[in-house]
Amino acid sequence: MIVTVVSFKGGVGKTTTAIHLAAALQGYGETLLIDADPNGSALTWASRGELPFRVVDQWQARAISTPQGHVVIDTQARPTTDDLALLAATCDLLVLPTTPDMLALDALALMVQHLAGLPVAPYRILLTMVPPYPSRAGAEVRAMLTTTGLPLFEVGIRRYAAFQKAALAGTAVYDVKDPKAEAGWQDYTALGNEVLAAMPEIEESH
Ligand SMILES: Nc1ncnc2c1ncn2[C@@H]1O[C@H](COP(=O)(O)OP(=O)(O)O)[C@@H](O)[C@H]1O
Ligand SMILES: [Mg+2]
Repeated sequence: MIVTVVSFKGGVGKTTTAIHLAAALQGYGETLLIDADPNGSALTWASRGELPFRVVDQWQARAISTPQGHVVIDTQARPTTDDLALLAATCDLLVLPTTPDMLALDALALMVQHLAGLPVAPYRILLTMVPPYPSRAGAEVRAMLTTTGLPLFEVGIRRYAAFQKAALAGTAVYDVKDPKAEAGWQDYTALGNEVLAAMPEIEESH
């Protein structure tokens, strides 16, 4: 399946999500990460260390076929309307990461409005960088989003410094020496499972 990670806002965890979702899906089948962000953040991440899947840019991706496997696409912030239309029409599922703060939620609302006017793949919102317990910020934003009826992943990704260490080391978070590395990885394996569980629904809706 092809999963595309998009948002209008930068710094909401798109690249971190693309890397770790690809790592989680790799556990189930050959996975390719396509870095469609001209900044090449995922490629830079990969170049610094070891990841269990291939990362290529969008030009290289044309030459590679993964008929049985999964593809995750990382994108740039502020996609043009044309890019967004193309990205949204050519995948099976859109993942919309947002941090639980007002500016990110405003950008999310804009994205949802844009998608409403397009013939798009199904999407789900992913709460990222959620302040861990005992903060209530994540739960409050989740409750608020739930009242809107918008589709939301059950798992939220907690905010842990281990993710920054992983970016620096060029690895997935599970390879980082940090007391929260395992908890961070658990969040993304749960996301991988939700994405895979969404597959049959997605195929029915096509
Ligand atoms: N769950 C997380 N916990 C802590 N820091 C995070 C988390 N996810 C991302 N970050 C950090 O936030 C910053 C932006 O993340 P990034 O994935 O590059 O976002 P985007 O691709 O949307 O710009 C980076 O410094 C990254 O290490
Ligand atoms: Mg990025």
